[in-house]
Parts: sequence; structure tokens; C-alpha cells
Amino acid sequence: MPHFGDYQNQIYFGGLSGIVPPYPADFATLERRAAAAMPRSVLDYVQGGCGDETTQDANAAAFGHWGMVPRMMVDASARDLSVDLFGMRWPSPLFMAPIGVTGIATQDGHGDLAAARAAAATGVPLCASTLSNDPVEDVSAAMGDTPGLFQLYTPRDPDVAASLVARAEAAGAKAIVVTLDTWVTGWRPRDLNTASFPQLRGHVLANYLTDPAFRKLLARPPEEDPAAAIRTWAATFGRVLTWADMPWLRSLTDLPIVLKGICHPDDARRAVDEGADGVYCSNHGGRQANGGIAAIDCLPAVVEAVAGRVPVLFDSGVRSGTDVVKAVAIGATAVGVGRPYVYGLALGGADGCAHVLRCILAEADLMMAVNGWPTLAAVREAGAVRS
Ligand SMILES: Cc1cc2nc3c(=O)[nH]c(=O)nc-3n(C[C@H](O)[C@H](O)[C@H](O)COP(=O)(O)O)c2cc1C
Repeated sequence: MPHFGDYQNQIYFGGLSGIVPPYPADFATLERRAAAAMPRSVLDYVQGGCGDETTQDANAAAFGHWGMVPRMMVDASARDLSVDLFGMRWPSPLFMAPIGVTGIATQDGHGDLAAARAAAATGVPLCASTLSNDPVEDVSAAMGDTPGLFQLYTPRDPDVAASLVARAEAAGAKAIVVTLDTWVTGWRPRDLNTASFPQLRGHVLANYLTDPAFRKLLARPPEEDPAAAIRTWAATFGRVLTWADMPWLRSLTDLPIVLKGICHPDDARRAVDEGADGVYCSNHGGRQANGGIAAIDCLPAVVEAVAGRVPVLFDSGVRSGTDVVKAVAIGATAVGVGRPYVYGLALGGADGCAHVLRCILAEADLMMAVNGWPTLAAVREAGAVRS
């Protein structure tokens, strides 16, 4: 039976033929090498966060105070990391979180397609962002048989929102992830210091510029007057959502609706009561508001509040397979990786991205093997302890 951990042998056996992997296996080296490869403005946008980045740094650091205790004399030679959610079976809990600048993370400007191809190659689902350099139809097609999700930044214009959701559904998305924390952009000093915001320079707007409902808002087609199209985008980008909008969101689609950005247990409880099909615990990687506690420290209370009624997705600070297993032990159903896969894209396009995903999966799988947890149920039973 093949295992994700087999990737380790592939690397070591390659070494016997004089081949070292072209991309690093650890996050620190990955980030350093990607930083050297990326244009400054793109690096600042991807690597930077809000304020002095305390929350962003805490997200990753906080995994360090969660730990697990191994079990011995257990046969974990065969492992099953698969999860069931929204009627799908994923090979593992890992998915790619929505990242709105993957399009410009690769030098050809088609990083969204590269991420989708990495999803196809690895079976790791991609949650495609509304902000994309290629339209959702093309991104979904590049995912092959790997299921994909669509993340919605809800436009102020309800027709544009409905159109984006309908297009994603028609393109094969398996769920709509509605991001709640980004109707306005948080205070990001790195980008402010260079007065650089990719969307205002016309990047990653393909889903809008190809959208019939969005185009109706324009006096002239975006091909003729791109500056006016960008101004319209900026004026209509972020709808403020409240619980009163849940019936409207529900009316847009038959797909499962997942609410992203939930950190408070009362919001988690309310989300399920109001009909959300999934709760996505995340603080947007510390990019939207500084001053919050680490997302992984919010997860236990969110899981408790949801009480198994719907799946709990998680991201923010995941840097390794160890982090993925810890999040599952705390109660996440599925775990999103963010910045690391963007760095993989920047270094090696789809190949670099797939390498990053395979390393995370291999580490998670081997950690489970060593620690005597053959299944995710065993991981959850083991639990994680906060020190
Ligand atoms: C450069 C960048 C762009 C992002 N764009 C989006 C987006 O378009 N939609 C969204 O819901 N979240 C977006 N996020 C947030 C991610 O989905 C995820 O919550 C975050 O990356 C987790 O933090 P981490 O990467 O530090 O682990 C973005 C994050 C980064 C780093």
C-alpha cells in the first residue's frame, strides 16, 4: 500500500544517483529561497501581514506550545489519512487555502493554473480565490479529478455575487467558501510603504473582468478602458455581511456553504444554527487584523462549539506536516496550507508547489507512523496538549 511517507524514500534513493531535490523540504529554507526569487512587491504582499505582524508570527509560533504524546506497540505500518466531507472523500485532511495572488506568484502570471495542476498531481484540493489571474472555469479545469472549492469575496452588487457563485458551481466547485473578514483591507505596512496593492494595478481580477454581471456595471469594456474597470472593481469589491445575509447566500447555490474567518465560539455556534455547512476557523494568516491570538489557540473552542454538527476547516500558521496533525488532533476536519505553497509556486511553478504539498503530507504520515496512529481517528483520540 503506497503511503505519503514514501516520498522520503524517493528523495533518499534519488541521492544514490546523485540527485538532490531541487526544492527544500523545510519551511525556513523554502521561504528564504522563495524570497530571493520573488519580485519585492509580490514578496511583501505574500510574506507581509497586518500591523507589526504579531498575530501573523504568533499563528506559526503557537503550534510550538501544542504537543502530542506517542503510543508504542501499535501496528501503524498501514496508515489511512483520508477524510470525508461534503460528500467527498479526500485522501488527506490537507487542502490549499485560497490565496488571491497565486496568479502573480509565478513569473508567467498563471500561478492559479499552476496551483490547480499541483492539485491534480497530488490529490490535494485547491480552494480557488475569487482574486485570480485566470477565470474560475480554467482553474477548475486544470484541477483534473481533484475536487476544488471556490472562495467568494462577496461583491456589493448582488448580481455579480450570484454570477460568480453560479460560474463556480457550473465549473465544478464542490463548496463555496465565503470569506467574512475581508470586506475592507487590513492595515499592511509593508505594502503601504511601497504604495503597492496588486489589484489596483489590474492584477488577479480575471474573474471580474470576464463576468457578464460585472461587465454590465461598466460603461465601456475593460479591454478598452481598464482603468475604469479597476475603479469599478474597487468600488464594488467588499460587501459587509451579517447574519441577516445567510438566507440570501443560501439562495445563491445548492452547494455546501462554508464560512471562513470564524474564531469566536459564539460565531461558530451561530454559523451552524444559521445553516452554514462548514465552519472555517482562520484569522486570514494575520493579514487582516493584528492583535488577535493565534488561530490554533482559537480552534479548541470553535470545535467544541460546533460539536461535530458540521466539518471544521482550519488555517493560519500551518508550516509542516506536524502542524497538520496537531490541528487534526485538536479537532479540525481539514487543514489549509497557505503561504508555503505560494513559495513553492514561486520557486518551481506546479512542480515546486507539488513538492511542498508532498513534503507536508510525508511528514504528517511519517509522524503518524512513528507515533502509533494509523488513522486520523487515532490522532484525535491521542489529542494535543497545550504546554
Ligand atoms: C498573499 C495572500 C493572499 C490571500 N488571499 C486570500 C484570498 O483571496 N481569499 C481568502 O479567503 N483568503 C486569502 N488569504 C488567506 C489564506 O486563505 C489563509 O487564511 C492564510 O494564508 C493562512 O495563513 P498562513 O498562510 O500564514 O498559514 C490570503 C493569504 C495570503 C498570504
